[in-house]
Amino acid sequence: MTTAATSARSVLAQRFKQRLKPFMPAWVLKFHRDRLIRREDSLYEGKSLGEVFTHVYKTGAWGVADDQSGFYSGSSSHDPKIVEPYVKAVTDYLRALPEPPAVVDLGCGDFNVGKRIRAVCGRYIGCDVVDAAIQSNRTRFSQLDVDFRCVDITTDPLPPGDIVFLRQVLDHLDNARIATVLSKLAPYKVLILTEYLPQSVNFTPNLDKAIGSHLRLFGPMPSGLVLTAPPFNLQVRSARILCEVPDSGGVIRTIAYELPGH
Ligand SMILES: C[S@@+](CC[C@H](N)C(=O)[O-])C[C@H]1O[C@@H](n2cnc3c(N)ncnc32)[C@H](O)[C@@H]1O
Repeated sequence: MTTAATSARSVLAQRFKQRLKPFMPAWVLKFHRDRLIRREDSLYEGKSLGEVFTHVYKTGAWGVADDQSGFYSGSSSHDPKIVEPYVKAVTDYLRALPEPPAVVDLGCGDFNVGKRIRAVCGRYIGCDVVDAAIQSNRTRFSQLDVDFRCVDITTDPLPPGDIVFLRQVLDHLDNARIATVLSKLAPYKVLILTEYLPQSVNFTPNLDKAIGSHLRLFGPMPSGLVLTAPPFNLQVRSARILCEVPDSGGVIRTIAYELPGH
């Protein structure tokens, strides 16, 4: 079977699963997630991040777009119950600043979220490691005056700006790559970070994992990223929770970190 036929088949399978998901018992979802994690761990070894996330999109691992865009960054980038509180909280935060900030959106994905906050920002640079997603965004959002760039945030220099967004990007990377990204954030005044965390307060943060579509929340020990904790120990001037939305047995937390030195 050709690669195109394989991708089409897995997209159809994903679309089918997406419809069934709300009716599946928790143990079935867990079984599927565990299988996905095992498969990805071996499949992506030695691959570039561009290849990994191109494959994630092609196979519909985060779900499948209803439109013809071909890129779908996941239900947490589309579900109004998740997206609307985020957009409101971030919009309120940005509007309260003395002037619209220049923003850099690292891992902007299908830009379904970014497009909703674009109007309250000054210059907007959207970066992603998947070149085809960036090209699609350039076409689909040509009216929005966004500078879309294909950037691997772990290896390339990061564009300048006042505020940097990292929304559900770092959790898809291993700890070594996360540390590399964090070492490049000092030029920004504020980091707005959004990630899934376990709901219990007694979890061990920052457990390492392989790169891929899956989250630390669904690892053998549920975990999530707390950048101010070891091994990252991100230095911040202040941390303010902008919003928290429960989902998939965890919570999606958005925090504004003021970074030191500004
Ligand atoms: C789950 S999606 C989130 C997209 C968007 N931030 C949102 O919230 O809708 C994660 C995105 O991060 C991108 N990504 C992962 N690693 C990256 C890297 N090293 N450099 C740039 N983008 C990356 C993926 O290609 C994907 O588009």
